[in-house]
Amino acid sequence: MTQKTVPDTFLNIEPIDLVACGLTNADLQGEVAVVTGGASNIGLGYARAIAAAGGSVVVSDINAKAGKEAERVINLENGRDAAFFVQCDITSEDDVKALAKAAFDRFGKVDILVNNAMNMRLNGTILESTVEDLDASYAISGRGVMLAIKEFVPPMLARGHGTVTYSTTQFHYLPPMLGRSIYTAGKAAATSLVMSLANEVKGSGVNVFCMVPAGVGRIDADHQAPVSDDGGTPLPDLSNFSMPGFNGLVPPEVSGAAMVYLLMNASHLHGSGFILQEALQAMKFPFPNPSTLPPPSNVHKMNDMELTLAFCNMGPGPSAIG
Ligand SMILES: NC(=O)c1ccc[n+]([C@@H]2O[C@H](COP(=O)([O-])OP(=O)(O)OC[C@H]3O[C@@H](n4cnc5c(N)ncnc54)[C@H](O)[C@@H]3O)[C@@H](O)[C@H]2O)c1
Repeated sequence: MTQKTVPDTFLNIEPIDLVACGLTNADLQGEVAVVTGGASNIGLGYARAIAAAGGSVVVSDINAKAGKEAERVINLENGRDAAFFVQCDITSEDDVKALAKAAFDRFGKVDILVNNAMNMRLNGTILESTVEDLDASYAISGRGVMLAIKEFVPPMLARGHGTVTYSTTQFHYLPPMLGRSIYTAGKAAATSLVMSLANEVKGSGVNVFCMVPAGVGRIDADHQAPVSDDGGTPLPDLSNFSMPGFNGLVPPEVSGAAMVYLLMNASHLHGSGFILQEALQAMKFPFPNPSTLPPPSNVHKMNDMELTLAFCNMGPGPSAIG
């Protein structure tokens, strides 16, 4: 079922059709998710898709204007109180504690923690950046992820049920085409924390995996605009970045559907990481332009070096589904 469209929103969104992706509107029925950085682009796609799959979602973001609108849109799309916005700077311990209190007060439990927040403007090279830029990258990607884990994982462990995921990157060292050393340093720190968490909670009923949402977004004035006034460097120009099978960036709605699929399969994914393209192939996503989809042998699988750096793969991982 295609969702209702909300015509009068400033959010740059399209309807999500989970059924066309081989999913149903009840796949996450009864599940409660917290999505950090859930007010725009990828996080918004995750939040909307989780709600479309029957779940409830706490949209948390530093950007209150977009967050409140995300709550309004998701509730209208689904015809129920599926979403709830809490403003939260993920680097602030007080904010994260308040986020957890608000989530538990509202829904009584949290089953899914989607660590997604990031300031994409922290993207300079080492030599051009200040150490404060690096601190800021670690603050969101390392400290913020740990603060969220500390609030949400203990109750999951007590119930023997839960999923933690992180929107990581396949680049954990200087990528030649982007030069985003400060960004990748933060992402590597958080990925290390999340994959170490997979080791710490193995066998507990709490599943932990990473997803690489490579090349996701929509190029427009809104997305390129700063999301907060923190004086960072400009957002990278992603206009030439594309995923095989798509003429340009992958829509956030598609990566949202892929996240629903991965969450449904979380028990098979514990301790592993998925590039979005692999997830889409596993779920046999109907690519809009199949002629440009590479044969399976050409699909990017993480090589040993990347795996070591990114994912200390210890579970059955990607081969377990699809
Ligand atoms: N876009 C891609 O193709 C891509 C590729 C690989 C990984 N990722 C990762 O996916 C995630 C989402 O990326 P995106 O492209 O949607 O980014 P985006 O900049 O469009 O959205 C990030 C969101 O995080 C929020 N945010 C920023 N600082 C925050 C803070 N201190 N506390 C709480 N929220 C904060 C922003 O307001 C925004 O809503 C990021 O972690 C990014 O590193 C993205």
